[in-house]
Amino acid sequence: MTRHFLKDDDITAAEQGDLLRLAADMKDDRHGFDSLNQSGRLRSVAVVFEKPSTRTRLSFQIGIAELGGNPVVIDSQSSQLGRGESIADTARVLSRYVDAIVIRTFGDDRIAELAEHATVPVVNALTDGWHPCQLLADLHTIAEHRRAGLHMLRGTSIAYVGDAAFNMGNSTVIACSMAGMHVRVGAPAGYQPAADVLARAAEINAETGGSVIVTDDPVKAVSGADVVSTDAWLSMGMEDREQRITDLAPYQLNAALLGQAAEDAIVLHCLPAHRGEEITDAVMDGPQSKVFDQAENRLHAQKALLSWMIGGERE
Ligand code: CP
Ligand code: NVA
Repeated sequence: MTRHFLKDDDITAAEQGDLLRLAADMKDDRHGFDSLNQSGRLRSVAVVFEKPSTRTRLSFQIGIAELGGNPVVIDSQSSQLGRGESIADTARVLSRYVDAIVIRTFGDDRIAELAEHATVPVVNALTDGWHPCQLLADLHTIAEHRRAGLHMLRGTSIAYVGDAAFNMGNSTVIACSMAGMHVRVGAPAGYQPAADVLARAAEINAETGGSVIVTDDPVKAVSGADVVSTDAWLSMGMEDREQRITDLAPYQLNAALLGQAAEDAIVLHCLPAHRGEEITDAVMDGPQSKVFDQAENRLHAQKALLSWMIGGERE
């Protein structure tokens, strides 16, 4: 059966650990894995964008090329998707050409339909609901900065402040639970993870020893945390800008809020940042910020993911 990576828990916690180890090896020896396509399984990969992207576009395009594959990057506006060709027909056609389809789109129903009709693996490069490739890079970044390797993820605390009801909040809750971390969500009512996400996290945490708490108090969320993460208040496709800025202003990641975290806490942001809104210049550019390592790690994490899913590294 074709395996897809549509959300964080489409892999097991053990597989997540394997992938993160492979990503770390790939970072240590960036060009030592250049011929993975010798297995003959990683030739062409379609990378499809229905929303804008800088990091995801470049990291997939470069990563696939570094693995010896051929990245075929298309935008909806420059393809027939933009003129209304169905996602199911697009899946059927692309499956005849490529070994995998990476896609950034809107609703999760859309990527689910693509996966249903594709005969090759489908990878989520961000939907409204999930950003699982980002979380592989985030966990990689946390592990490398905890200096003691992957086993240090277990028991590490992460505070996620701001809009926690969209892709980054959901993926942080699930992926960090899989890693056995303690997640503290600081978000106001209306911006907290949905009940089904929290219920799934509870199931995962019963196995991994992780935990999730949700509070509307940003100081309580951040207090003593090892990692502090945030994301845009107005994600792609959202329109209610003024209301969201008003609602989320108390959750800005600024020096005062970061001062509540552990002394050696690191700061993550998937980027792009909206400086002066969800994060200040002082925090983004400060010594605790690892956001550019995090952006780099998209490349290594996704090379690991593709090698593992289609390049034969899973055997
Ligand atoms: N973090 C992230 O996915 O960035 P892009 O939107 O630039 O791809
Ligand atoms: N939550 C943001 C993430 C961007 C990488 C968005 O969906 O726009």
